Amino acid sequence: MEVRFAKENELVRINELRKQVNDVHVEGKPDVFKPGFGDELRDFINVIWNDPEQEIVVAVADDVICGFVIIHHINKPENPFMKERDFLDIDEFCVDEAFRRRGVATDLISFIKDYAKEKGFHRLELNMWEFNRGALAFYESVGFETFRRYMEIML
Ligand SMILES: CC(C)(COP(=O)(O)OP(=O)(O)OC[C@H]1O[C@@H](n2cnc3c(N)ncnc32)[C@H](O)[C@@H]1OP(=O)(O)O)[C@@H](O)C(=O)NCCC(=O)NCCS
Repeated sequence: MEVRFAKENELVRINELRKQVNDVHVEGKPDVFKPGFGDELRDFINVIWNDPEQEIVVAVADDVICGFVIIHHINKPENPFMKERDFLDIDEFCVDEAFRRRGVATDLISFIKDYAKEKGFHRLELNMWEFNRGALAFYESVGFETFRRYMEIML
C-alpha cells in the first residue's frame, strides 16, 4: 500500500469516502448532521483542494483509494488567555468499509506524523464526536490523548 498526497482527478473517489464519514455522523448525531450528501458538501472538496493551508492524503492499494485524511494547518494567535498555537489539525478521516482493520488508517497517521515532523510541527490535533467509539479506539491506538472536552445537556 502506498500513502501519498492526492491528485485532482481523485477527488470524486475521495468524495465517496467523505460520504461514508458523513453517514457515520448522521447516524450517530442526527440532531447536528445533515442527512445525505448534498451538492454543497460534495463541492466543499474543491474548497479544501484550493486551500494552501490544507492537504489531502490518500492510501492506495491495488490502484484503489482505500482511505483518505485531510490535514489543516492552523495558527491561533496569542490571546489574553493562551499562547500562540501552531499545529496540524486532522479534519476528516475515513477508510473504506471494505478495507478496515488492516492497518490502513495507522499507515495514514504514520505518514502525517513524518510530514508534520519534517515541516517542524510539534503537535497534531483532531476533534471527534463522542458516540464514535470505533474512531476513539483507533485514535487512542495510535497515541492520541484527550486534552479537552465539549459537553452538552439535551433539553
Ligand atoms: C476509524 C477508522 C478510520 C479506522 O480505520 P482502520 O484502517 O480500520 O484502522 P486500523 O486498521 O489502522 O486500526 C488500528 C487499530 O485501531 C483500533 N481500531 C480501529 N478501528 C476500531 C474499531 N472500529 N473498534 C475498536 N478498535 C478499533 C484497533 O486497536 C486496531 O488494531 P487491530 O485491528 O489490530 O485490533 C475507520 O474505522 C473509519 O473510517 N471509520 C468511519 C469513519 C470515521 O469514523 N472516521 C473518523 C471520523 S472523526
